[in-house]
Amino acid sequence: MSIEIPPGLTELLQGYTVEVLRHRPPDLLGFAADYFTRLRDARDQEAAAGARKGVNFDGEPMQTESNGEEEPGRDDEDSDSDFEPPVINRFNRRVSVCAEAFNPDEEEEDTEPRVVHPKTDEQRCRLQEACKDILLFKNLDQEQLSQVLDAMFERKVKPQEHVIDQGDDGDNFYVVERGLYDIFVTRDSQPRCVGRYDNHGSFGELALMYNTPRAATIVATTEGALWGLDRVTFRRIILKNNAKKRKTFELFIESVPLLKSLEVSERMKIVDVIGEKVYRDGERIISQGDKADSFYIVESGEVKILIKSKSWMCKHSRGCLAPAWTL
Ligand code: CMP
Repeated sequence: MSIEIPPGLTELLQGYTVEVLRHRPPDLLGFAADYFTRLRDARDQEAAAGARKGVNFDGEPMQTESNGEEEPGRDDEDSDSDFEPPVINRFNRRVSVCAEAFNPDEEEEDTEPRVVHPKTDEQRCRLQEACKDILLFKNLDQEQLSQVLDAMFERKVKPQEHVIDQGDDGDNFYVVERGLYDIFVTRDSQPRCVGRYDNHGSFGELALMYNTPRAATIVATTEGALWGLDRVTFRRIILKNNAKKRKTFELFIESVPLLKSLEVSERMKIVDVIGEKVYRDGERIISQGDKADSFYIVESGEVKILIKSKSWMCKHSRGCLAPAWTL
């Protein structure tokens, strides 16, 4: 008799085992019941969202890295609403993306042919300038960064051009070199402008990281220039790097009180998008009145918090510099 293992079973049991090892629950059966119920609910939610064509999440633009200016008439009612990352549902992935079975948690032989788009010196300079503050690139080593830069290609856009459409499969990650780009999220058939990229920033990472449809529509409102990175290179280098980052920062992120109530998978998504910023003694991190575009976790050092004329010192352990992790 030949036994055929149903597709998805190994992954399903592996996922459960990992959660058991992480949480060490006293009641394995109860834990299993909760775990699989949550998994099924997430799958059903994702299926429902897919049926409505497009991912159903909304909120502030992420990593827009814009200059903080608001467009008149923009709908800011929900500006404090939480951004919900897409549910990672390993058991209900879209077929077209599943074919690229890259698992960043496993060490893999790097045998993929490299993607290289030749560039002039002038293009390379512009590209380096555009990429210098991109958080997802911050933790790459020299070799990885140079492979990423080699693989990037220039894309010029015209006003009203849709760079990304919500609900599509993810093809590229984009870094803004110049131009303005509006971010629209459609919910209940109502497109809403939730933010804008203003001459810098990056977008298009979510669909590539989590194998989900595009979560927003990005429309150029001026002429502009973008640098694209193909899906395969993004996953091969950025996700592989993130897998290492997850291991390195698991304990650190667990120790942050604000994030304690999150699920492990949610904390890992935070690790995916944090990047290190090192500050010199006396350097200003944020100014009162600034638009809130990042959340900082102090990894080591001390930060001083000043509100108008009052001031107090907030001490943190280790070192005198203040490298912070920013989202
Ligand atoms: P992705 O889903 O791949 O494609 C659309 C991109 O828009 C998304 O990745 C994010 O990079 C970006 N984006 C910015 N703000 C939002 C938002 N509020 N919701 C979803 N995506 C957003």
